[in-house]
Amino acid sequence: MRVFRSVRAMSAWSGTLRREGVVIGLVPTMGALHAGHRALIRAARLSCDAVVVSLFVNPRQFGAGEDFARYPRRIRADAALCRVEGVDALFAPPRRDIYPAGFQTSVVVRDLSRRWEGAARPGHFEGVVTIVTKLFTIVRPDVAFFGQKDFQQAVVVRRLVEDLNLGVRIAIHPTVREPDGLALSSRNQYLSPRQRRAATVLYDALQVGCASIQAGQRSGERVKRLMQERVGQEPLARADYLAVCDPRTLEPIERIARAVVLLGAVRIGRIRLIDNALIGKR
Ligand code: PAJ
Repeated sequence: MRVFRSVRAMSAWSGTLRREGVVIGLVPTMGALHAGHRALIRAARLSCDAVVVSLFVNPRQFGAGEDFARYPRRIRADAALCRVEGVDALFAPPRRDIYPAGFQTSVVVRDLSRRWEGAARPGHFEGVVTIVTKLFTIVRPDVAFFGQKDFQQAVVVRRLVEDLNLGVRIAIHPTVREPDGLALSSRNQYLSPRQRRAATVLYDALQVGCASIQAGQRSGERVKRLMQERVGQEPLARADYLAVCDPRTLEPIERIARAVVLLGAVRIGRIRLIDNALIGKR
């Protein structure tokens, strides 16, 4: 496996492959890799000739007071996982190579970034979209792999690619979960054992929402209230938002008639967890 630290070396290598007609898959990550990331890497391995994993804890997508400084960093373990999974290249650039002095451009996907995670974390999607644009420009992948776990992020990135004609296919992989339903996340390790038990409440609430829709409930408001009640039963959890939305526009749905996505974010102590459930087709 090759490890590239510089933008220039990464670009040169993938440029050569591209000219040879090699199908390049990119899995963008912030490291601290877990089985969720591994599933994306395996999907890339299955459908692409060469797999690039990027590992960059992107300061621009963290708000003031968020966990940028203490975000887990374990490049050696991450490199070992990538090697075992047959990754061809790991791209782990230093911050100064991505944001050199004088850097001042950013890319914004307007409406889709406004609600939910965008409202809770101002500037977050601007940071995500800008780094993803840079990664696509540097690596020039044919396909890029994202997790459904970050549903809004995936929708925003699809919009970006379409709006700017980036020519990258976006593949979205289902959420990988613990046996009790908790979505894998690099932030789960911050949870105390008691908080960890409480954390399943988000998945449980989404399941309650899904079950009610499957049983015929058609009121978005009613489904939302059922999810809120479930989260309310867990004293350690506080709902940030729970919503019943159109999976394309991410706008709340009043009357459920087509596909919907249930979106949720809860706080458990200082830790914020997100999850979602898609019913019907995207
Ligand atoms: P990160 O949180 O490291 O996640 C990298 C990718 O792994 C994302 O596409 C995310 O949705 C996916 N992922 C995380 N947990 C998952 C799970 N349990 N199941 C399936 N996929 C999962 O998301 C980011 O990094 C950053 O915003 C990034 C896109 C790299 C831009 O900096």
